[in-house]
Amino acid sequence: MAGASIGCGRLVPVDKLLIKGGTPLRGAITVSGAKNAALPILAGSLLSAEPIVIKNVPQLKDVATMITLLQSMGVQVTFDDKLNVEIDASKVTERRAPYDLVKTMRASILVLGPLVARYGEAAVSLPGGCAIGARPVNLHVQGLQAMGAEVAIENGFILARAERLVGAHIVFDTVTVTGTENLMMAATLARGETVLENAAREPEVIDVANFLIGMGADVSGAGSSTIRIRGVEQLGNVEHVILPDRIEAGTYLVAAAITGGKVRLNQASSDHLEAVLVKLREAGAEIIIGEHFIEIDMKGRRPSAVDIRTTPYPGFPTDMQAQFCAMNSIADGVGTIKETIFENRFQHVLELQRMGADFEIEGNTAVCRGVEKLTAAPVMATDLRASAGLVLAGLAAEGETLVDRIYHVDRGYERIEEKLRQLGAEIKRVPN
Ligand code: UD1
Repeated sequence: MAGASIGCGRLVPVDKLLIKGGTPLRGAITVSGAKNAALPILAGSLLSAEPIVIKNVPQLKDVATMITLLQSMGVQVTFDDKLNVEIDASKVTERRAPYDLVKTMRASILVLGPLVARYGEAAVSLPGGCAIGARPVNLHVQGLQAMGAEVAIENGFILARAERLVGAHIVFDTVTVTGTENLMMAATLARGETVLENAAREPEVIDVANFLIGMGADVSGAGSSTIRIRGVEQLGNVEHVILPDRIEAGTYLVAAAITGGKVRLNQASSDHLEAVLVKLREAGAEIIIGEHFIEIDMKGRRPSAVDIRTTPYPGFPTDMQAQFCAMNSIADGVGTIKETIFENRFQHVLELQRMGADFEIEGNTAVCRGVEKLTAAPVMATDLRASAGLVLAGLAAEGETLVDRIYHVDRGYERIEEKLRQLGAEIKRVPN
């Protein structure tokens, strides 16, 4: 349906981004709080009846969706203009995540563990498929079953019940980020000890663990592949500051690289971006790392093509794959990108080809022969990071690129056009 999207059952107009490419980005911006930490932490607030304050919360569509979900359950949420959110989950009247919200944001599944742990029951709509792959949630469900929950799938909902969860030894078949977070949160109120093996090691998992520890949970090992959680009777209050968004930071670093610019990112953590920084250096960027900033200087050079293989943290993040596809498309040489996490995550490549990029896709591998210039075209965003890749391509292309369906961008990038304009980009949001 052109020009509209279905959000929560309503037709809403869809904005587009108009980008006039060719300006090398210059200047400084501040990185926002991490979406992928804010979402589980907001969901985790269901674990406590005491007041919770979360700071540095990014203003994003996905965050708004999670807050709407919490409010629909009876949770009181207040926020100020300084990105602080106060949560009072002392009364949770509905233990249900409806399809209307879950279908707009799969991370809604993160309320499952906390609800079962605190209330002994939850009904969470099954998310269904996704533009980038099947993305099942079987490991979330199996983990809860191992902790004693009875789980049924009825009318498209996961219905889970347990008088009180019990600690379990869980070995994940596949490294799953939200699966690790969901079960780690559930285990905080279980009877006895839970051990999660082959757990995700993402920095966001550590941030969630620190939030839980702040509430009085007994969690150790987050950041390694074995996490131990000893259940406690109840959790208390906490004030927690969300860590910086490494994917947002990485995206702006590539924006500088693809335009031959020089950009400083304040409040960026280089420790969480090592795999990305290695590839940017390989592409010819000079990277300077300060205590709370990362600076990239491309010195006007055209990037060199790089080979990439996406893997769970600390490997190269799948959430940076589309941005590097955009960079490789104008790079000098041939770059091979292998996607090992999601099976259908090359839709941006088809759009990049419409801008003149030279890709060949075979299975989970995209081989790109860099071209001197991309040419502007109307393109369509298909998912959050694909949309970031298209915006970056637009910044480098000759002419005016119109990126459609940018509600995908708004799910995960705070004020993207303002931040890019601050760096000198010619970009504006055009209403449909
Ligand atoms: C999270 C991130 C997302 C990122 C992804 C991989 C959040 C809110 N989202 O998504 O931005 O792209 O990690 O880094 O943090 N899998 C199963 N069964 C399950 C769960 C996952 O087979 O029960 C598979 C998935 O299909 C996928 C792989 O495991 O192939 C990794 O997915 P997972 O880490 O779970 O992704 P998300 O947590 O959904």
